[in-house]
Amino acid sequence: MCGIVGYTGKRQAYPIIIKGLKRLEYRGYDSAGVALQQEDQVTVYKKKGKVADLEDSVGTSNVSSTTGIGHTRWATHGEPNDRNAHPHYSKSGKIAMIHNGIIENYAQLKSELAKKGYTFKSDTDTEVLLNFIEEIKTNNDCSLEEAIRIALKRVTGAYVILLIEQENPDTIIAARKGSPLVIGVGKGEHFLGSDASPMLEYTKEVVYVNDYELAIIKPDELILKNLGNEKITPYIQKLDLELAAIEKGGYDHFMLKEIFEQPTTIYDCLRGRLDAAAGTITMAGVQQYAEQIINANRIVIIACGTSWHAGLVAEYIIEELCRINVEVEYASEFRYRNPVINKGDVIIAISQSGETADTLVAIESAKEKGAIILGVVNVVGSSIARASHAGAYTHAGPEIGVASTKAFTAQLTVLMMIALKVGYMKGSISNDRYRQLLNELDAVPEKAAWVLNHHEHIKSIAEKYKDARDFLYLGRGYNFAIALEGALKLKEISYIHAEGYPAAEMKHGPIALVDENLPVVFVATKDIYHEKVVSNMQEIKARKGKLLAVITEGDETSKAICDDVMIVPEADEVIAPLINVIPLQLLSYYIGVAKGCNVDMPRNLAKSVTVE
Ligand code: F6R
Repeated sequence: MCGIVGYTGKRQAYPIIIKGLKRLEYRGYDSAGVALQQEDQVTVYKKKGKVADLEDSVGTSNVSSTTGIGHTRWATHGEPNDRNAHPHYSKSGKIAMIHNGIIENYAQLKSELAKKGYTFKSDTDTEVLLNFIEEIKTNNDCSLEEAIRIALKRVTGAYVILLIEQENPDTIIAARKGSPLVIGVGKGEHFLGSDASPMLEYTKEVVYVNDYELAIIKPDELILKNLGNEKITPYIQKLDLELAAIEKGGYDHFMLKEIFEQPTTIYDCLRGRLDAAAGTITMAGVQQYAEQIINANRIVIIACGTSWHAGLVAEYIIEELCRINVEVEYASEFRYRNPVINKGDVIIAISQSGETADTLVAIESAKEKGAIILGVVNVVGSSIARASHAGAYTHAGPEIGVASTKAFTAQLTVLMMIALKVGYMKGSISNDRYRQLLNELDAVPEKAAWVLNHHEHIKSIAEKYKDARDFLYLGRGYNFAIALEGALKLKEISYIHAEGYPAAEMKHGPIALVDENLPVVFVATKDIYHEKVVSNMQEIKARKGKLLAVITEGDETSKAICDDVMIVPEADEVIAPLINVIPLQLLSYYIGVAKGCNVDMPRNLAKSVTVE
């Protein structure tokens, strides 16, 4: 949450920063701002709203500068308004700072500063930290770098901070703990970003800054230090990311592009790993810990949101194929309730961004208790990827739409491969069933494309139901979590209240909601629960609920009782969730668009939740 950008070099900083902020807007879009080094002063422009609003408010003002920092905000302390937007000036007006994260002990620092006569222009923790730094600099008569180091030793919480000061016109100082920071290394120039997207067209050489590191960045120099003032050699990595991957490519929205990319992203995820003809799955990370996983008493899956739903699907599949007890935990709950972790427990952490604070903190604490951590992560080099012992990347490419779609199906693909590989190695799955499921998984990209080819029909269903006030989503077994995911997608994108439930559990409460105005969406493809699900559908119909369902091609019985159906090709029940979610993604997207919502940037959300 919050996007940060920085530039120092020979080019004009402002356009680079604005373009970078637009790419990072998925991380927060409450307000935006820039601070520029100009002649003998630091100039700040900031505005409530999107980066485009900032640009409008800057208008024709003088933005000439070759060093600057920029911020797009997801509010934590203080409501979104011009005052609370970043960058903030220090009391003297000579230093400007942007911040991503939360300073947890800001109240204490604020009261210390207040006693010394400080007053604050904003309600943010950021302004407190900035003045705390300046106070140390003045009192100790030291450099800004030294003051930051001293200050950060007193800070609890998470941060990436970027500062520029009047005294050092071409220098940006950055520090990180718990929030992401990437430095792009160019020729006579450096770029900074919350991820690599702001620097893609300028350089492919990047340094991922680690926690408790501080960077002093000039056009021709990058110095990395720890908080103990010892120099660290920057580890320069090559980026494997093209500009096209972060652009809309002719689609109206990133979300639609990402939904339509799924045949390719699922294929990319399988590529080089699954060889159906040879009957092999190659996953180096899983292989490395094969013995521990096969002999694990328990697998605990930790994740949040959509990634948590992928974990729920995996619970059913791993238990079925590997006969290992699986528990799926919300990272935020797991972290704070002192969970029992036994030696030999294996943790699977699932995260698209690889930066979700709750998940990161949860795996750190499980690691301390001796658990092995396997990461299922999309963003290469992210904090969770680096904190895991091993794992598998999902290779879905950058996901920009705030609501997760292609990352979810890539997570399911990886988790299904893990379950198949472990089940096969353990001998808990027969050779025939293993080979059958490999072929089924191999066929998913084609089946996903088939579903997408029927998008116009789903669009027409969306038009019909877009004005409903509430939705209920129901599914059983492997498809229970798909019902939850369908409901989550709809509420995120369209702001329609939606609930997901296990289909049979509906009788124990939610059925009271059913009347002729309530659309009830069943995930009712052919599997061992199918007859029971059809009975649940009849129960809704008897109460005049509007019946919608994702059904298997050729299932005329279900079609006959539904008001509307979304058809998917036949697939094995273990693999089917991967295909069944796609019509529900499309339904949410088209309802969101029909209601005029900003589907790529739904209100109050951020793509990467880096605060606990
Ligand atoms: C929903 C969504 C969120 C994320 C959640 C975890 O569409 O995107 O619920 O799934 O914030 O994020 P990651 O997977 O990055 O850890």
